[in-house]
Amino acid sequence: MMKKVSISSPAFCQMCLSSWEQMEIFRDVAELREGIDRSKFSLGLVPTMGFLHHGHLSLIRTSKEQNKKTVVSIFVNPTQFNNSEDLDTYPRDLESDIALLVEEGVDFLFLPNTIQIYPEGFETEINTGSVGERLEGVHRPGHFNGVSTVVCKLLNMCAPEKVYFGQKDAQQCSVVMNMVRDLNIDVEVVVCPTVRDSDGLALSSRNIHLSEKERESALLINRALYHALNEWDKGQSDAAVLKNTVEQKILSNSLNKLEYISLANEMDFIEQAQAMPGSIISVAVVVGKTRLIDNVVLKWR
Ligand code: PAJ
Repeated sequence: MMKKVSISSPAFCQMCLSSWEQMEIFRDVAELREGIDRSKFSLGLVPTMGFLHHGHLSLIRTSKEQNKKTVVSIFVNPTQFNNSEDLDTYPRDLESDIALLVEEGVDFLFLPNTIQIYPEGFETEINTGSVGERLEGVHRPGHFNGVSTVVCKLLNMCAPEKVYFGQKDAQQCSVVMNMVRDLNIDVEVVVCPTVRDSDGLALSSRNIHLSEKERESALLINRALYHALNEWDKGQSDAAVLKNTVEQKILSNSLNKLEYISLANEMDFIEQAQAMPGSIISVAVVVGKTRLIDNVVLKWR
């Protein structure tokens, strides 16, 4: 039987109410499989960990354009967190997420709990290999194995034709594409552009943790990356020079701690000495206590 969440808050506006009946919420895999009859329509899946923002919504809108129906999953996946404090403080607001999804006209919401995803006796894990061991993988050991395993499970549960990811997490896109290729998973991976705030800061659920001063400091991340893009456009190809430009700018505010800066091939994330079209500059920066990542891709010039 399908479950519908009761409307308990004035946050649910009249417009939401009128389309409310159209969004089905599943908390259980068997209900999901029964409720989504895959023979009837093309389906897009947008996996998320909730606390939705316009970055997530851009994926949802693209899925709605490209598929008859869209399923969004919200699951804060414990196995991709290598730090229990990070998991505990990960922002959550299910009520507001549901209101947003209803407003977007999403067809299905999959809201599993940890037992649904990792039942007792669960043992199998995907090992993402070398791509997942670089950059984020160095600083968050096991992160991409957790991501790949949960994404694989969500793909098996929802069986979408297309699945949507954001360029903001470029290495995650690469890891997922490798997994889909290596394990012959029958799905098309669609990567959508990074959505930024009007001041350029890449949207992230974690931005909520930034104080006003930290947010000001965090703006140096995208400014530094765009400055390097500009230098590339003007002819600079030396990776060390480009990385140094980014590093200096980010570190010009002492609230920023640079975890890594990389100029690498966009597919395998192997470091390059010379930048070329398709190279990606990625950074992870800890601002105060908040860890942020961002990247830009070098275009043909
Ligand atoms: P989460 O951080 O909630 O992100 C869900 C999706 O939204 C990811 O594909 C992410 O790249 C995309 N996204 C986040 N911020 C974005 C932005 N500013 N612009 C465009 N897209 C953005 O990424 C995860 O969850 C998890 O690892 C998940 C894939 C759900 C597996 O647990």
